[in-house]
Amino acid sequence: MESIKLTETYINLYVRLIFVILLTFALFKAANGQAIYDESKVPEYALPELFVAQDGEKITDQESWMKKRRPEIVALFEENIYGKIPGKLKISSWKVLEESQDALGGKAIRKQILLTFKKKGKELGVNLLIYLPKNIEKAPLFVGYNFYGNHTITNDPAVVVPGSWSRNNIDFGISENKPTENSRGTRESRWAVEKIIDAGYGLATMYYGDVDPDKFGSEVDFSDGVHPLLYKKGQTMPLPNEWGAISAWAWGLSRTMDYFEKDDDIDEKRVAVMGHSRLGKTSLWAGALDQRFALVISNNSGCGGAALSRRQYGERIGGMNTFFAHWFCDNLNKYGDNENSLPVDQHMLIALIAPRPVYIASAEDDQWADPKGEYLSGYHATPVYELFGKPGLATDEMPEVNHPVMTTIGYHMRTGKHDVTDFDWEQYIKFADIHLK
Ligand code: GCU
Repeated sequence: MESIKLTETYINLYVRLIFVILLTFALFKAANGQAIYDESKVPEYALPELFVAQDGEKITDQESWMKKRRPEIVALFEENIYGKIPGKLKISSWKVLEESQDALGGKAIRKQILLTFKKKGKELGVNLLIYLPKNIEKAPLFVGYNFYGNHTITNDPAVVVPGSWSRNNIDFGISENKPTENSRGTRESRWAVEKIIDAGYGLATMYYGDVDPDKFGSEVDFSDGVHPLLYKKGQTMPLPNEWGAISAWAWGLSRTMDYFEKDDDIDEKRVAVMGHSRLGKTSLWAGALDQRFALVISNNSGCGGAALSRRQYGERIGGMNTFFAHWFCDNLNKYGDNENSLPVDQHMLIALIAPRPVYIASAEDDQWADPKGEYLSGYHATPVYELFGKPGLATDEMPEVNHPVMTTIGYHMRTGKHDVTDFDWEQYIKFADIHLK
């Protein structure tokens, strides 16, 4: 009797699970079905003004941009899109878990650093993996998050497997939400570690789930990751204008800067922050919030990243609010089918990085991320670069595929899909050579 009941319960659960999966799939299909992929269907739009402050004042010089308009725009992004980081939280302590002078066949130093954060009786541990070129005293470096653990970016057997929650991925051998040894090296193709080291740069990476687990749909949970460390008494969810996951991840990137400032082997003045996809949205936001990042790279960041929302091409805010609401603050729900009422658009996010160099990369088959909208963000941010006497993107015509342009703003659309490839890294290295060397 008992076992029949149990079987029934399992069947019930199973049917429910299949139903939820089918429903999610149908919703996603519906959202995709409505997506515009035809340039002639892109609506007319007017972008919010970069150089008119909220009180109507015209901004005409660098100082009033930096002291008045820029902070206003940061506050608008905080309030309406990514959410405000609700307090300060510094590294409580850090520990060298492991260090080698003989990594990557002898050409690199490897360090694995555990950053610990403590507040309100809670504790968060984040593992930072760093490779540095051996022959350089204070190395410039690239820093960026990975999606499945530091051990996925390389086959180096010494890299530690994270203990935090992970999304399951059959291809990477991850089930039961636990990162495992099985995924070592599975994302090697996205991280040109040797190329980076050979070019004289370091590479630092951490697992984004260490900072805030990326739980979707019914799994969404703001009681884990960094959020609870900054909750007020009794708080269990961020307020409507407080940090979603992207702001939390951006917070984590700034803490790596705090660490780099303390590590004598790293030149903290020459750090480039890089991210792909949702983590490209994150690198842009981190670069906008924290001006210590000397260079910012967005790889296929799309909607909520480099792409202009008002174009409504490919992915739209409404779809993101349905599927990835936890990446943003609750207030973004106001703008679902209503991009034109947003007080900002994404060219302003690029403009917040000015006058520092920014690279925006797209992929031809990644129309979901709207390559043209990504390019145009750079183009429309250009007046702010020019205010600082720096060239940006001179024309609204996109360059040909696989023909990068590099001024203070870099851009390319390469052939291929949503991904990070050696071609992408080769351009980031070239761009860093121009601006950081
Ligand atoms: C989805 C989502 C994108 C996001 C991407 C990713 O495709 O729609 O907005 O950039 O996932 O982060 O992988």
